[in-house]
Amino acid sequence: MDLFDQAGAASRAAASRAAQLRDELAAHDHAYYVLDAPTVPDAEYDRLFRELQAIEAAHPELRTADSPTQRVGGRPLAQFPAVRHRVPMLSIRTETDTEASGAAAFDARVRRELGLGAQDPELEYATELKFDGLAISLRYERGVLVQAATRGDGETGEDVTSNVRTVKAIPLRLRGAGPEVIEIRGEIYMRRDDFETLNRHQAERGEKNFVNPRNAAAGSIRQLDPAIAARRPLSFFAYGLGDTQGWTVPATHAEVLDAIAAFGVPVCAHRAVVRGAAGLAGFHARIAALRDGLPFDIDGVVYKVNTLALQQRLGFVTREPRWAVAHKYPAQEALTLLRDIEVQVGRTGALTPVARLEPVFVGGVTVTNATLHNQDEIDRKDVRIGDWVVVRRAGDVIPEVVGPVLERRAGELPRFRLLERFPLCPVCGSHVVRGEDEVVARCSGGLFCPAQRKQALLHFASRRAMDIEGLGDKLVEQLVDAAIVKTPVDLYRLGVLALVNLERMGEKSAQNLLAAIEKSRSTTLARFIFALGIRNVGEATARDLARHFGSLDALMAADELALQQVPDVGPIVARSIAEFLAEPHNREVIEQLRAAGVHWEEGAPAVAPAGRLAGKTFVLTGTLPTLSRDEAKALIEAQGGKVAGSVSKKTNYVVAGEEAGSKLAKAEELGVPIIDEAGLQALLAA
Ligand code: IVH
Repeated sequence: MDLFDQAGAASRAAASRAAQLRDELAAHDHAYYVLDAPTVPDAEYDRLFRELQAIEAAHPELRTADSPTQRVGGRPLAQFPAVRHRVPMLSIRTETDTEASGAAAFDARVRRELGLGAQDPELEYATELKFDGLAISLRYERGVLVQAATRGDGETGEDVTSNVRTVKAIPLRLRGAGPEVIEIRGEIYMRRDDFETLNRHQAERGEKNFVNPRNAAAGSIRQLDPAIAARRPLSFFAYGLGDTQGWTVPATHAEVLDAIAAFGVPVCAHRAVVRGAAGLAGFHARIAALRDGLPFDIDGVVYKVNTLALQQRLGFVTREPRWAVAHKYPAQEALTLLRDIEVQVGRTGALTPVARLEPVFVGGVTVTNATLHNQDEIDRKDVRIGDWVVVRRAGDVIPEVVGPVLERRAGELPRFRLLERFPLCPVCGSHVVRGEDEVVARCSGGLFCPAQRKQALLHFASRRAMDIEGLGDKLVEQLVDAAIVKTPVDLYRLGVLALVNLERMGEKSAQNLLAAIEKSRSTTLARFIFALGIRNVGEATARDLARHFGSLDALMAADELALQQVPDVGPIVARSIAEFLAEPHNREVIEQLRAAGVHWEEGAPAVAPAGRLAGKTFVLTGTLPTLSRDEAKALIEAQGGKVAGSVSKKTNYVVAGEEAGSKLAKAEELGVPIIDEAGLQALLAA
């Protein structure tokens, strides 16, 4: 073989490998994005993708338009070119009667138009969902996607091919032998979970939020820079046909959708062929029950006369076919006036701002309150008292304020500041706090606040806290609801008489419970601290605090700085403890508990342990070459060091081995020194 032949053979091999990779990647895309059933791990997909990229880089002539590497290729545009639709893109007439009678009206109209009488058989309808996104026409020539256009005015749309190519669910090449020409029409939409993620990212980047998935989808497709569109998580469902050439169009709409699905284009599984008005109403009701559980928003359902020949006979009036109708559901969103914002205190002390609304009928019920989630959400949406707001109620979900209608805001309205308006808990009067990095504001009266009573008592009595056997949630529920117990102190004042009248509580169980309460009077300082239920103070921290301070008085006298001297107590934990102890209601309960005879052995404050690693905190991550985790821990502790479970600014060293994960990343982020096993051995031997 001479050099020329060799080169020829090499590029033939490259060409066939490239073709094979394109097919394989397209099959994986289909499995992942259309069937929702991935066939290979991401890493394998990436490997194939990079191999194809490498071949194409070496042989640019092998780069085809349908190559998966070419999804994001286009340059930013100044504007979208216009596209004239060969078959106009119609819209659908909407039936606003959301009851079964709406379906019956459509069936009656179609029958009348077709000249059918009462004795004629029922008509067959294809029923599907009305997706809430942006209509798109995809033109495939000989199986390859050549153009994607928006609907525009129905006659002329915009050429958004570069952006649509980035939608992974849309195949760049149809499966099997594609017809000469086929235009597949459908809806580009965004899933709700993708929408939430996108908005989170938008917020992180300081960019503006999208109001709803439909706007996000439409905005993404109408982006002039395909690189931006490529980062938007879009999906697609086909629902019809445009122009076709060289293809035998099936006889029914349902078969058309089957054929489109066989081409590898996503078609929603929630569709059916039904008969007559009752069949339509049945589908409407079935989807109503499913609606809130769907991963995407819908705007209703669509009924289409199934037989294409009948569709032809029916024709259309002003852009709306007589053979189709959109049947809506009761609106899930409504407009109303935001009268005031109040707060609700949850079991954990979290304060949730609640909108007090001018009553409005939405989703089938009258809504007067809706959640505003937290201060950040209020700021993000810029909701102010006095605004006209959109309220949304989906199924059983708590109604929420979607956002204000800024155009209707009359003049300047003051911003709402939760901490200014509610410096004290509306339930118990304890002060309200909000950590620097925290979204939620909380009532600090954990031991005292009626809203937190049940939670606080359950925690207080739990096995690793005061260990009061038999005091479970059923009993706590009864004791609190009957106002027998308000704070943990009341437990130590209980008598048999108060208990025997409770449900499922005989003399014997009452005696047992009292004995368990009695027994808990004698405890340890660590358990007692843990039992207080201070935010961010778990069992281990409680133990550290007990060891460090030796007595409750010393702990109660400590300020934030003194608290931070405790190994593993950083500014956030120190702040939680200080806030809890600063609340007079909590101190009162603590004093009352002591007065009620709850006691423990107190010691002197811990002296700093001796050893080379005294006062040093380590975090272990990954697999070390020779030491097991327990061995490494024992060696560190033998030298007076401490091993903590998570990395904070107070960590002195992170010891990282093979396959270290997020702790390593955290250490890098915080600038904590990272050492390996050899480094640890050196410290131990120093
Ligand atoms: S068929 C027959 N089917 O609704 C007329 N449209 O108002 C052609 N839409 O612009 C449309 N789901 O974006 C059809 N299952 C569905 C649909 C659907 C959503 C949208 C489509 C169109 C608008 C019509």
